Amino acid sequence: MELIGRTKIVDVLQSTAYGTTVNVKGWVRTRRGSKQVSFIALNDGSTINNVQIVVDVEKFGEEYLKPITTGASLSVNGTLVQSQGKGQSVEIQATEIQIYGTADPAVYPLQKKGHSMEFLREIAHLRPRTNTFGAVFRIRHNMAYAIHKFFHDRGFFYFHTPLITASDCEGAGQMFQVTTMNLYDLKKDENGSIIYDNDFFGKQASLTVSGQLEGELAATALGQIYTFGPTFRAENSNTPRHLAEFWMIEPEVAFNDINDNMALAEEFIKYCVQWALDNCMDDIKFLNDMFDKELIARLQGVLEGSFVRLTYTEGIRILEEAVKAGHKFEFPVYWGVDLASEHERFLVEEHFKRPVILTDYPKEIKAFYMKQNDDGKTVRAMDVLFPKIGEIIGGSEREENYDKLLNRIQELNIPMKDMWWYLDTRRFGTVPHSGFGLGFERLLLFVTGMANIRDVIPFPRTPKNAEF
Ligand code: 4AD
Ligand code: MG
Repeated sequence: MELIGRTKIVDVLQSTAYGTTVNVKGWVRTRRGSKQVSFIALNDGSTINNVQIVVDVEKFGEEYLKPITTGASLSVNGTLVQSQGKGQSVEIQATEIQIYGTADPAVYPLQKKGHSMEFLREIAHLRPRTNTFGAVFRIRHNMAYAIHKFFHDRGFFYFHTPLITASDCEGAGQMFQVTTMNLYDLKKDENGSIIYDNDFFGKQASLTVSGQLEGELAATALGQIYTFGPTFRAENSNTPRHLAEFWMIEPEVAFNDINDNMALAEEFIKYCVQWALDNCMDDIKFLNDMFDKELIARLQGVLEGSFVRLTYTEGIRILEEAVKAGHKFEFPVYWGVDLASEHERFLVEEHFKRPVILTDYPKEIKAFYMKQNDDGKTVRAMDVLFPKIGEIIGGSEREENYDKLLNRIQELNIPMKDMWWYLDTRRFGTVPHSGFGLGFERLLLFVTGMANIRDVIPFPRTPKNAEF
């Protein structure tokens, strides 16, 4: 085969250099045609769109073309021509075809017919080759890029917080332990507690649930930082919105109060959605047409007007009125309850028909580090609630007062030996500061319109599942 530099299909489809010879490489999506001419739809992952390869059957011979079935990989040289068929502008008239690898139709699981999402999860090693997952993972990349760009352009520093930690940031006891101890032969003290002295870190260690605490150390030095990394939660929630391993973006800003924090969250998330509309339209359009006819309208919808700002107490009042008016929720509504996603979605989708930022939650249902309000009951928390998703962002102004923070840590029996370094930020040069965490996969659920969080991360980790 003659050597010509490879052109990516995304570029071929933009080209008007008719008559020139090009080389494309990729995987066959379909092959159809007649005894005279065969049409191969070839995809190389650079775009949702395939390039059509037109093959003169006589020239290559039917026997040679036979193994070119769905999933086979090819290198094709050919002439770029203006397409006669509708739906594409250019096609390639093949002059040479090299088959890299075949995909026996009797066993290759990705045939043309539509597969269920559940089935595709079982073959997560192959699903990136489908149109749907190609689209999702291209969007995932673009959103990651947009997030770094957003913060970098505004002078934030990307700060790397540890994945292995000895402190439980959210205090919810949902941590995966990290140990090199022999689990068949654990040393225990007289009270039956495990002795960690000889473990790898010399103490009990876990995978982090959040980079926030270390993020605060950085924010109170560099001014404004963000983290963007994997986080781990051993919560046994088998829902379409929970993963045991998910990625989180956590900005933290010195001198910001909760209002600045809300403004940043709103600007940030709108920037991400706008970026997707500006840079991923081919993929979004595909997902809109295939799965969710309201996707594009919903994305545009959150960009219009500002998010509603509402206290938790007012939110509860609205929900209680809805119950009185006959609305049925699965879970009860009362002041003090941790809102379920049905409650959050009612406020967003039915009551306000806009994203809502709920603030000032009861302190009992929020983490120890949140700034305490003067009422003694609520803390300066803020959750951003989104259509179809519910909570997409959780954050707060932080308690910067040493005594109040220490009190709360003691009230909640959080071991001081794990927290001395965090408290030092309040002992030395303490400042008001705020931050939040955006669940990357929750954002992707929103932007792609996928219904299940397992379908926006390449290899989901959920209870009883760590395949691939
Ligand atoms: O509300 P969370 O628990 O807040 C924190 O972790 C704070 N330390 C963040 C901060 O202030 N820096 O989690 C933040 C976000 C949630 O709003 C949600 O989008 C996502 O992380 N999230 C999950 N996403 C997928 N699977 C899970 N199990 C998640 N738990 C939280
Ligand atoms: Mg939360």
